[in-house]
Amino acid sequence: MKILVTGGAGFIGSHTVVELDKAGFEPVIIDNLYNSNRDVLEGIKQISGKDFPFYEIDCNDSEKIRELFAKERFDGVIHFAAYKAVGESVEKPLNYYENNLISLMVLLRAMAEFNVPNFVFSSSCTVYGQPDAIPVTESTPRKPANSPYGNTKAIGEDIIRDFIYAKPGVKAISLRYFNPIGAHESSLIGELPNGVPSNLVPFITQTAAGLRKSLTVFGSDYDTSDGTCIRDFIHVVDLAKAHVKALELLNSESPDYYDVFNVGTGEGYTVLELINTFEQVNGLKLNYTIGPRREGDIEKIYAQSDKVNNVMKWRAEKTMAEALRDAWNWQLKITAE
Ligand code: WQD
Repeated sequence: MKILVTGGAGFIGSHTVVELDKAGFEPVIIDNLYNSNRDVLEGIKQISGKDFPFYEIDCNDSEKIRELFAKERFDGVIHFAAYKAVGESVEKPLNYYENNLISLMVLLRAMAEFNVPNFVFSSSCTVYGQPDAIPVTESTPRKPANSPYGNTKAIGEDIIRDFIYAKPGVKAISLRYFNPIGAHESSLIGELPNGVPSNLVPFITQTAAGLRKSLTVFGSDYDTSDGTCIRDFIHVVDLAKAHVKALELLNSESPDYYDVFNVGTGEGYTVLELINTFEQVNGLKLNYTIGPRREGDIEKIYAQSDKVNNVMKWRAEKTMAEALRDAWNWQLKITAE
């Protein structure tokens, strides 16, 4: 099966390309390289031993997308390409709504026109906002997103649901990610944040590598065991494998199928527990201070993952410790280059 992977040069996209190939799929990568670079393609090639087709295309470019769909007969699409910086989305909401939603609709229209039956959408646990109860299940009510980025994921899910309901001959799954961390064990691909990382783990690894003076822990007065926020940190390779499972499930489902899955480990850890694990597993001391809360942060969330375990036959296999070891090895490699 030939699968279009949009944003395939990105963090989760590149790891998913590797797992698709391992599972016998035929990935085709498109990426506009806005938030990634071509070196990633080299890393994928070194891991897989293959040169997958790559097109530098922006998913908002309907003409280029239709040309591609006419040229390559796809059996499915995994859509990662989107702007994803929460803080930036608050400053530039129109860029986020335009880029993330227009690109989605361009792809869906092309899938209907060229009879591409399977669609996997990269959604996010941010659709839950601060849940009233944790862990969250797929029926935990969504809450108004606390950022335009999060809102593009919620609206994106609604666009897909309504599109499928119109029976375009497309089936779809939305995967609600929690906090992807880590890197491929080979250290040939990993997370490449642009500029100052807003996410926790790349900031930690850059601090440990001496690229940042110190990590600030945003708040230690939350209602948790040690006062710091709780998250569901999932190894990016486990998350990548969930996309393969989603395609396999779609393949066996009836036409016009649509469903949503939480993709998390089912365990919550605090920021300080993650830091302590990072120090232990890598044998180093991290320079960090406790600072004020970051606006918009939710206190605690982690997944109840029974549905993805039982229906999609996927479960997280790697531990947070393994992810933090892989993240550090990746940082060491890119810092040495
Ligand atoms: C995690 C925790 C921070 C940086 C984001 C996106 C979400 C999803 C996952 C895509 C929080 C704390 C962080 C730092 C810190 N992405 N932190 N110091 O905010 O949970 O979610 O990534 O789907 O959409 O919003 O991730 O890594 O920014 O923060 O203390 O320098 O680490 O307060 O508690 P977040 P994060």
